[in-house]
Amino acid sequence: MAGGKPILMKKTQILSPTDPHYQLAAQCLQDNGLVSFPTETVYGLGANALSDQAMTGIFQAKSRPHFNPLIIHLACSEDAEKWANMTDLARQAAAAFWPGPVTLIVPRRTQPYQGQKIGLMASAGLDTIALRVPDGEIAQKLLTISNLPLAAPSANPSGKLSPTRAEHVMAGLSGRIDYILDGGACAIGLESTILDVSGTQPILLRQGGKSVADLEAVLGPISFGDKITQDYSIASPARAPGMLSSHYAPEASVRLAAQSVKSSESLLAFGEYLIEGADQCQKILNLSPHGNLAEAASNLFQYLRDLDQGENSKIAVMPIPETGLGAAINDRLRRAAAPRH
Ligand code: TXA
Ligand code: MG
Repeated sequence: MAGGKPILMKKTQILSPTDPHYQLAAQCLQDNGLVSFPTETVYGLGANALSDQAMTGIFQAKSRPHFNPLIIHLACSEDAEKWANMTDLARQAAAAFWPGPVTLIVPRRTQPYQGQKIGLMASAGLDTIALRVPDGEIAQKLLTISNLPLAAPSANPSGKLSPTRAEHVMAGLSGRIDYILDGGACAIGLESTILDVSGTQPILLRQGGKSVADLEAVLGPISFGDKITQDYSIASPARAPGMLSSHYAPEASVRLAAQSVKSSESLLAFGEYLIEGADQCQKILNLSPHGNLAEAASNLFQYLRDLDQGENSKIAVMPIPETGLGAAINDRLRRAAAPRH
């Protein structure tokens, strides 16, 4: 797990996105501090990616295992050429999907760019690097004003649900980070899709905010990496080492594809018709009464939090179609339901 040293408590402050606050946040990042910021997917926990010291702070704040590499966020696609050996496939994907909810895995550059390099901490020993140009005004402004590549995993304690609001970040990381830029709820609500484009064929490593169908429409057939078909374990040398089976977990236990709900359970519903027992269960939240998967994605983490009444509570989840964004929603739900380490 993260370094053995005790963490110095910080006074975490939530900042509204005003010009002086961007300056404050950018200065903090340049001084190797930690700033959480909203992206179109989820809130990230940002640090200066040119500094291993700054990135060490991320691992400590999240209690993140050191073998789990970080995504580097960039202001624009052109910046990718500074830090990576972009393949033709990577350039094609970047042109089509950036800015947006797609992370590209590419070979890391070993030569410095103008005397600077992304710190080795970011890749956790891999010879590839994960890059993403996020959409969304606050992320874009912070990247531009700080003038840094920002390493940013989701801003949650490792293994917990990703945050889609500033309050979620505060609840999980208060006292461990410097600032949280408050941009309200994230538009997409699910982490980015991760695509390995380090070779000539695209390989999907994580389902996410951009559907496989959308990716394939541009890039042609995409194969599924080991990471999304096998049961990931900490011991296996992983292609996307963060993809452990129990991840994105609430305290409550989660039961999937429920055909009925017990009176002791809460219900995470989807669509117009509710299942048997719904009238007597603890609480119901409907991800999308009209069966809209984008709406369901944006509500998913908030509703799991709202239904989570601690480790003795139970959440039954209605079936959700596997099409489009449904694949990513079901992926997160399977991880939420997986046996805990
Ligand atoms: O939407 C997102 O992707 C959010 C926002 C903040 O951008 N970030 C995010 O980061 O979800 P994180 O750290 O929670 O997930 C990053 C994933 C991990 O599973 C990690 O293993 C994988 O990306 N990853 C990072 N670098 C990699 C690499 N070089 N090769 C394979 N996988 C990598
Ligand atoms: Mg995460």
